[in-house]
Amino acid sequence: MKNFVTESRVLSRTEISLAGRSYAEFEIAGDIAFEPGQYLMLRTNTHKNTWPCPYPLVRTTERGASVLAEGRQELYKCRAGDAVQYWGPRGTAPAEKGSMPILAAEPAAYFLLYPFLTAGLCKKLILLDTGGGAFTPGDQNSVMRFLNLSGPEQGKISGGPSVEYCPDIIQAAEAALKEPDRVILALNPQNAEAFAGHIPDEKKDSFFLYISNKKACGIDGCKGCYLHDRDGGMGINVCCKGPFMPLSVIDFEKDRKSLEEYI
Ligand code: FES
Repeated sequence: MKNFVTESRVLSRTEISLAGRSYAEFEIAGDIAFEPGQYLMLRTNTHKNTWPCPYPLVRTTERGASVLAEGRQELYKCRAGDAVQYWGPRGTAPAEKGSMPILAAEPAAYFLLYPFLTAGLCKKLILLDTGGGAFTPGDQNSVMRFLNLSGPEQGKISGGPSVEYCPDIIQAAEAALKEPDRVILALNPQNAEAFAGHIPDEKKDSFFLYISNKKACGIDGCKGCYLHDRDGGMGINVCCKGPFMPLSVIDFEKDRKSLEEYI
C-alpha cells in the first residue's frame, strides 16, 4: 500500500466517450499496479493549492497507468507533460478472486465500471437506461460502440461480453438476482436506493455499490468520507474500505448525503 506522494506527470491525454458521455483518459507515469475498482488520489498543478481528488484507474500501460477524469475535474484541464502528484493505488478491489462479477450500471455512472470491462472482468453487464433509446439493444455493434469496447477488449471477456438491457430498476434488480455471482453496481443515489429495496437482506453482502468520490485525504486521516456504522462504532471509511461497499453496510436513510450524483 502506497501512502507517500509520488511526483509524476501526464504522459498522454485521450478523449473518450463512455455511454454517451465525454471523459478523458490520462496516462500517468509511474510504477502503478492495481486491480479494477481501485483509484489514484491525484493532485494537479492547475492552480495554487489544488485539492487532490480520486480518479478511477482504468488500465496499466508500458510507462504507468491510466485514469479517467470527467469535465468538472481538475485533471481534465491537464495536457501531456503537465506535472501531477499521486498517492495510491487506494481502495480495495470488489471482484472476488477467480470468479467473474456481474456489473450493473446506468449510463451516467458506467465509467466507474469501465475498468472491469477493460480488464475482462465481467460475466454480464446489466445496463439500466430509464431514458431509453441511447443505443439499439439488439445491435451488438451499436452496444459495443456505446460502451467503448473495442475488439481486443471484447475478446478478453470469456464467451464474449453479454449485455442485458433493462428499462427500469426493478427489472435490473431481478436480472442481477438471477445470477449467483457477486454484483458490482454504479448507480445514481436514487436508483441505488430503489435497487437496494429490491434486494433481500440476506443477499446484500454480495452486491457492491460504488459509494462516493468525495474524498479529501484518501488515507483514512481526515474522517471526510465516513459512512454511518450500524453498530455505533467509529464509522466506516470509504477511502480505504471502499470505494465499492456492500449494500449490507449502507444505511440509505443516514448515508444518502454521502452518495454522489453523476447527473
Ligand atoms: S478521505 Fe480522508 S478519511 Fe477518507
